[in-house]
Amino acid sequence: MNRDEARNRIIFALDVSGLDEIDRFAEILSGRVGMFKVGKELFTSCGPEAVRAVQRHGGQVFLDLKYHDIPNTVAKAMLEAARLGVQLCNLHALGGLEMMETAATAVRKEFGVDRPRLLAVTILTSSTAETLRGVGIDHPVEEMVVRLAKLAREAGMDGVVASPHEIELIRAACGPDFLIVTPGVRPTFAAADDQKRIMTPAEAVGAGADYLVIGRPIAKAADPGTAADMIVEEILAGCL
Ligand code: C5P
Repeated sequence: MNRDEARNRIIFALDVSGLDEIDRFAEILSGRVGMFKVGKELFTSCGPEAVRAVQRHGGQVFLDLKYHDIPNTVAKAMLEAARLGVQLCNLHALGGLEMMETAATAVRKEFGVDRPRLLAVTILTSSTAETLRGVGIDHPVEEMVVRLAKLAREAGMDGVVASPHEIELIRAACGPDFLIVTPGVRPTFAAADDQKRIMTPAEAVGAGADYLVIGRPIAKAADPGTAADMIVEEILAGCL
């Protein structure tokens, strides 16, 4: 893997609430990370302007809005995300086969190969066996993760968002071309924050992750640009 490929694997989580902060981070990090993740907080406060602000700096966008609704509504929301020109967007696999298939088909039909890659969230990493039992699902978390990843693949999704500890199971079940995007990554120089089951960038890439979502280790660093560069070096060192 070369330096550009390592850089392109990093998705910076833009967990901020205003356009000024987007500009600040996008200016420092464009060219140093592969993509910027716009999530629910930022999108709720700034709307599509958040996506456009990143794009003005030449950045690519993962729109992390985790849609879960009736098939027609999710398909239409995904089409709007594609019209914004984002590179990745996602939905909840728990919405079921028809919901995922309707969305994937609509986006492929209108955008073809230039479409955003569509990801499914399987089971949120904040959920435990107890959380699942509480909503009537009596299966272990890992079994559900694999089951939903396979369902997402069958529905025509391009990949999943998953915990680093689920990467190997999903890779084995869904094959080499299925995208795996993983948060819960901590470079060796950073604190764990509230992330519990973490892996280093090199470990996550070694386990088979295509993209790493990393927020605070970059955002809270004294020099975010240097922190991003150090993560690139960690990925490269792990690939030797
Ligand atoms: O700051 P940190 O690197 O922990 O940020 C990780 C990002 O990934 C946050 O935007 C968080 O919401 C998101 N995320 C996560 N764990 C998940 C799913 C998403 O940390 N299971």
